[in-house]
Amino acid sequence: MNRLELDGELSQDISKAVALLRGGELVAIPTETVYGLAADATSEQAIGKVFRAKQRPLTHPLIVHLGDSRQMADWAVDIPELAYELAEQFWPGPLTLILKKSAMAPAIVTGGQDTIALRIPGHPVALDILREFGGALAAPSANKYGRISPTAASHVVAQFGNEIGAVVDGGLCPVGIESSIVDLSTDQPRILRPGLLDNELIKLGIAAYGHANEGNVPRVSGSDLRHYAPTKPASLCPPKELKQRIEQQSAGRVQVWSLTPNRYDLQHVDWVVMPVDPVFYARELYLRLHDFEQSDNELLIIEHPPLTTMWRGINNRLQRATSQL
Ligand code: TXA
Ligand code: MG
Repeated sequence: MNRLELDGELSQDISKAVALLRGGELVAIPTETVYGLAADATSEQAIGKVFRAKQRPLTHPLIVHLGDSRQMADWAVDIPELAYELAEQFWPGPLTLILKKSAMAPAIVTGGQDTIALRIPGHPVALDILREFGGALAAPSANKYGRISPTAASHVVAQFGNEIGAVVDGGLCPVGIESSIVDLSTDQPRILRPGLLDNELIKLGIAAYGHANEGNVPRVSGSDLRHYAPTKPASLCPPKELKQRIEQQSAGRVQVWSLTPNRYDLQHVDWVVMPVDPVFYARELYLRLHDFEQSDNELLIIEHPPLTTMWRGINNRLQRATSQL
C-alpha cells in the first residue's frame, strides 16, 4: 500500500489520494474522530471493495461523507428543519445525521434501508480530499469488522497491509471516538450512537441513546454487543472493587486503566493513569486499546468512569470492548 505522508507535499499527496478514489480504489483518510476507509459513494464496485476489505456484513450501512452541507439535498429527501440547524451548529464535526435517502444513494451504501447516514468531517485533510474529489465518500472506520477503530495511520497499516490503495497519514485523530449518530428519519429525533456531543444534543431536545421505543431502531453495526474489541480479555470494574479485582488476578501481567495515580503498588500490574476529562480520555481510548493488544499483558482491567452524560460515548465503547461473547 502507498503510505502518503504529510511531509510538506500535502497537496501532491491529496491529489494522489483523489486520483486513486476516482479510479475506484480504497483510500484510508484521517478524520477528527477515527480513520475512515473511503470509497466513491456513487460506485457500487468501490463500495463492494469496502465491505470485502472490512469483512463487514452487507446489511451494515456506511456513512456518506460530504465536503459541503449543500450536498445534503443531493443525498437525502424530506429533510427536516432540525437537520439544517444541527448541520449549521456542528458541521464540520463529529455528528452523523440519519435522513430519508434520495435516489442518488446506491442500495449497497445504505444496506438496503430507506435512510442514509451523512456527515461532514472536521479534519482539514479529510475536507481537502472531499473538496478536491468533488463528490461524496462512503467511509466506515478503517478497521476490520468488530475490531478496534484506528486513530493513527499505523493502526490502518497493521490491519490492512496491502489490501487497500493508500493511507493518508494525518497524524493522531483529535476526537478519538466515532461520531454521535442522530436519527432524524422519524418523528422522534434520537441518538443511535453516543459520542462526545451528546450533552449538547440532549439539551436541544434529542432523545438520549438508550431511550424508550428502541424496538425499531435501524441497524447500527456499532450496536452489535461485541465491537471495538481487543483480541485479549478486558473488563470494566467499579472503582471500589478495583483493588480486589487486581489482587484476584494472579495468572499473568495485568494492565490497569485508572483515573487516579498509582494507588496500589503491585508487581504484576502495569498501571496506566487515564485522563479525568472525557475529551482527553476519548482521544487516548483507542490508542491505549491498541497498545494493550500489542503489549505482553494478558488482561486489561478498566476502572469504570463516571456515569454522567459527558462520559456516555466513552462508557458505550468501553462496554463493547469488554463484553465477552
Ligand atoms: O466518526 C465516524 O462516524 C467514523 C468516521 C470515519 O466518519 N465512521 C464510522 O463508520 O464510525 P462505521 O461504519 O464504523 O459506523 C457507521 C455507523 C454504523 O454503526 C452504521 O450501522 C451506522 O453508522 N449507519 C449507517 N447508515 C445508517 C442508517 N441508514 N441508519 C442507521 N444507522 C446507520
Ligand atoms: Mg466502525
